[in-house]
Amino acid sequence: MAPLIRVIGSLNADMVSVTPRFPDPGETITASSYFTSAGGKGANQAVACGRLSRAKPTATSPSTEKDPVRVEMVGAVGGLDGQFQALLKPTLEKSGVDVSRVRTIHNAYTGVAVIIVDTSAGGENRIFFSPGANYTGMQPIPEILGAGLAAPVPDVIVMQGEIPVETVIGILRNIKAWKEENRAKGQKGIEAGPEVVLNPAPAPPGGLPDDVYDGGVDHLILNETEAELMIPPTEQLLRTVPDAEGQSDREKVARYFHKIGVTYIIITLGAKGVWYSAADSGSSGPADGVTRFTNEIPASKVEKVVDTTAAGDTFVGAYCVEVARWRERRRAAGKAGQDLSIEERVERYQKMMDNTMKWATKASARC
Ligand code: RIB
Repeated sequence: MAPLIRVIGSLNADMVSVTPRFPDPGETITASSYFTSAGGKGANQAVACGRLSRAKPTATSPSTEKDPVRVEMVGAVGGLDGQFQALLKPTLEKSGVDVSRVRTIHNAYTGVAVIIVDTSAGGENRIFFSPGANYTGMQPIPEILGAGLAAPVPDVIVMQGEIPVETVIGILRNIKAWKEENRAKGQKGIEAGPEVVLNPAPAPPGGLPDDVYDGGVDHLILNETEAELMIPPTEQLLRTVPDAEGQSDREKVARYFHKIGVTYIIITLGAKGVWYSAADSGSSGPADGVTRFTNEIPASKVEKVVDTTAAGDTFVGAYCVEVARWRERRRAAGKAGQDLSIEERVERYQKMMDNTMKWATKASARC
């Protein structure tokens, strides 16, 4: 069976106005064009996974159709606006995403994102998100909290920040407890459970409670603004990682999250590319942060940037596909039940990031 990625997150109808510049407060300007499309960070990531998992081999694409990946979406749409329901599920299905776990909440509206794309600012956007069914349908009830581990248990679980924060926390704690139980029974390596990719976008102000990271989050993907919002105030941070004193912002972020148990931290830098840090956090227990590997990879050059909406989502999708395929290769090599040494971690990481970067820039998740 092909490895399974389960995306737990938002589905939105995007209403996009393309404008020559962003309006000033109180100002009305005329848009140059308008369109509606399927969106939402969760749905965009699922579409990216679906499309990339079916990608044909090219000179730069490291994976082929011979490495299929299954993609499932867990989320909610509203029943009060039939046209958006008709837009979202079929769009995901066309990209190979299984939508059988997308619920319809009859007395809610589908989530909506009003987006302004500024053509004079390199396709930069401003987004206003109204959650609708993404909140009402994804409350932390037992069915939703158990969704991450529902059979068949996936290889990769990815979540973002457009569903209630209590739901994200509850799901992470569930996965953490389950993996701890498995480890206590002697299961190691990828047999101990799925890998969790967390992309807290938008970032919950004040971040998440520290306990969810160690054993709950394996890969943390943030942009620079989210990174700032997810860490505690400097004084508090330095109590956890005194060695971060005088270090750059990204170092502070990485040292902090490694210390509380995250193995892989990726900071996306927009047009500049990505920076990442991998540390030997062990299979459980806080990272010592001693054995570390960091690197920066520049983004591929694009001739003309038209619209940056969902660029980050495409990156996250490509990354998840790489994680899933790596696990499949590990299984095929008969090493599923073995923990990785730090050397293997570093090797895995270098390859995975290089592949993701080559690949993410070739794809577009815009549904
Ligand atoms: O990341 C882009 C997405 O953010 C859009 O599709 C929009 O729905 C917003 O949620």
